[in-house]
Amino acid sequence: MNNLLMEIENEVAVVTINRPKSLNALNSETLSELKACFEDIENRKDIKVVILTGSGTKAFVAGADISEMVNATPAEGRQMALLAKDAFMKLETMPQVTIAAVNGYALGGGCEISMACDIRVASDNAKFGQPETGLGILPGFGGTQRLARLVGKGRAKELIFTCDQIDAAEAYRIGLANKVVPQAELLDTCKAMAAKIISKGSYAISLAKQAINTGMDTDLSSGLTLEAELFGLSFATHDKKEGMTAFLEKRKADLTDF
Ligand code: CAA
Repeated sequence: MNNLLMEIENEVAVVTINRPKSLNALNSETLSELKACFEDIENRKDIKVVILTGSGTKAFVAGADISEMVNATPAEGRQMALLAKDAFMKLETMPQVTIAAVNGYALGGGCEISMACDIRVASDNAKFGQPETGLGILPGFGGTQRLARLVGKGRAKELIFTCDQIDAAEAYRIGLANKVVPQAELLDTCKAMAAKIISKGSYAISLAKQAINTGMDTDLSSGLTLEAELFGLSFATHDKKEGMTAFLEKRKADLTDF
């Protein structure tokens, strides 16, 4: 991998997008590497949480790579968006929990990849925005879809139509960021959150993730039916037996399933 770093410790993979000279902008090569990386992770049992971040202290990801797109044809633009769609869908639907550690600018494709994560923790210098219409294009890595789902249609339209950058506090206020912390504490905060998540039933979490993701894209009744099915499935696990028995025996549960 030329543009990614990955470290695994205590069942947590920290994936760092590493193109600091262009503020970690996403070119096609990086998108392909992200897709391959997420395909690898989704089949691994030794990783339960993924933390996605950008290298350096200035940018998470400053967007798709403008120097690659400037001379791209319509077909190439479409191809790049479809590659990002595949990579980000992998990220969104993998059974592992994904946390974006947003360590600076999250613009365009940067905001978009953070929104494909389950949770966004922002450092206090983070800036979010969708500047695409100022470049004569529209968000193409999921911004028109995921931003509206996360913060509502009106706010998404305002951000996309004005290209306003919002700071971490505003991102928190509108529900785009789950938490804001000083930059020096960003990774430790994400790792502490990861440890808490890993101490719960991993398989149950993956089922809950599936129920939430699928349920948000369907009607309530279908979502509730899916939830009932997955709820039933969770009763087949070691973790369900152990979690409930431990409660009744007034001891700490030893949850292991994935
Ligand atoms: N693509 C390619 N290169 C980029 C980049 C991007 N998205 N963002 C920054 N860079 C490069 C700059 O060209 C610059 O390179 P050089 O040193 O070779 O000149 C380097 O990173 C540092 O950037 P700046 O000098 O601009 O740094 P700054 O502190 O003055 O500004 C910034 C920081 C506000 C993030 C500014 O770089 C910026 O506005 N970047 C572009 C943001 C943007 O428009 N993103 C959306 C891209 S389109 C998109 O993402 C489409 C989509 O939906 C997928």
